[in-house]
Amino acid sequence: MAKNAWFETVAEAQRRAKKALPSSVYGALVAGSERGLTIDDNMAAFGELGFSPHVAGHQAVRDLTTTVMGIPISLPVIISPTGVQAVHPDGEVAVARASANRGTIMGLSSFASKSVEDVIAANPNTFFQMYWSGSRESMVQRMDRARAAGAKGLIATLDWSFSNGRDWGSPQIPEKMSLKTMINFAPNVLPHPQWLLRFAKSGRIPDLTAPNLTPPGGTAPTFFGAYYEWMQTPPPSWEDVAWMRETWGGPFMLKGVTRIDDARRAVDAGVTAISVSNHGGNNLDGTPATIRMLASVAEAVNGDVEIVLDGGIRRGSDVAKALALGARAVMIGRAYLWGLAANGQAGVENVLDILRGGLDSAVLGLGHDSIHELSPADFYIPPTFSRTLGATRSTIEATTRH
Ligand SMILES: Cc1cc2nc3c(=O)[nH]c(=O)nc-3n(C[C@H](O)[C@H](O)[C@H](O)COP(=O)(O)O)c2cc1C
Repeated sequence: MAKNAWFETVAEAQRRAKKALPSSVYGALVAGSERGLTIDDNMAAFGELGFSPHVAGHQAVRDLTTTVMGIPISLPVIISPTGVQAVHPDGEVAVARASANRGTIMGLSSFASKSVEDVIAANPNTFFQMYWSGSRESMVQRMDRARAAGAKGLIATLDWSFSNGRDWGSPQIPEKMSLKTMINFAPNVLPHPQWLLRFAKSGRIPDLTAPNLTPPGGTAPTFFGAYYEWMQTPPPSWEDVAWMRETWGGPFMLKGVTRIDDARRAVDAGVTAISVSNHGGNNLDGTPATIRMLASVAEAVNGDVEIVLDGGIRRGSDVAKALALGARAVMIGRAYLWGLAANGQAGVENVLDILRGGLDSAVLGLGHDSIHELSPADFYIPPTFSRTLGATRSTIEATTRH
């Protein structure tokens, strides 16, 4: 471990994560798909937006607070759900503690390694995430469990289309971790004693099961077992989305929207919030960066539902840009995973502090006293920057009918 565990940027956290993690675990977090066009564009697109800062008239105190689906948060950054599995023995519980300490919302994946009960004990402001997977009966049972545990919202992630393969190669992940598989993985693991030591100290090995998908009276499926069930499930219709929203009965976020026709349908299905997301570039490669679609989606829903931006956030200035283009808040994925790998709970807190600091600098330099004043006028936006997806003649007609 580096002598000073604190890091100054998310890029440095990623470098430390790469050193600390076995290459298969690191590779699973880098992820991406096919040529990596989307994952690259998600990050690079932010660099095309230029600040237009003021030189005087700055505000001494800046307000960074907001709400997402009714939950007050101290900064407009929330945790996107990821199955962190083998990154750290405390996994999602460490992320939940860190997000609670920094006053924000935890998104918990249904593929996570920790139970929804343990995570909510660490951060009561948790949204539980589900895919459209399994029978309706099992989906109801999972929703009931999350609701009983105290989840404050449901995130339905529906953009996944089982794209697989990447030109730089996929990591080898065992079906189940045992001492034998750990030994088989020794060449991969031994150069990373810090990772091994953390698990050894915790007395646990990463078990690669999904405890939040345990059927009543049964045992937790393996990650791959859960993935297989999902692949076998007929994909949902818009009526199914409305059913899920109604069955949940509380704040409901649809994650994965990029098209304006889908955004309008999501409004019709009664969702509370839309996450403009392309699954962090892990799904259909060639989907443009989410920041490019944000303004068109925000315009299409015209305030009917909340909009959050997910994908490519690595610095506070990225958060400022997303808010200026119509997001209420952003969701982060890899940024906190790098922090978790680099320094556990403190590393996730470090990442949230970096984003808070960078956002505050942006609001200061732009002369605002609140994040709610950020607007496109604060940036140079190249004429070719934005993308509008799903604007067919019929959808334009449907949109203007609303
Ligand atoms: C390792 C990994 C696992 C993920 N697992 C899930 C998941 O279980 N559920 C989900 O909705 N999204 C999942 N995602 C997508 C993230 O929620 C999020 O959309 C994405 O990471 C955002 O992009 P960013 O990493 O650039 O911030 C995962 C992403 C990564 C990198």
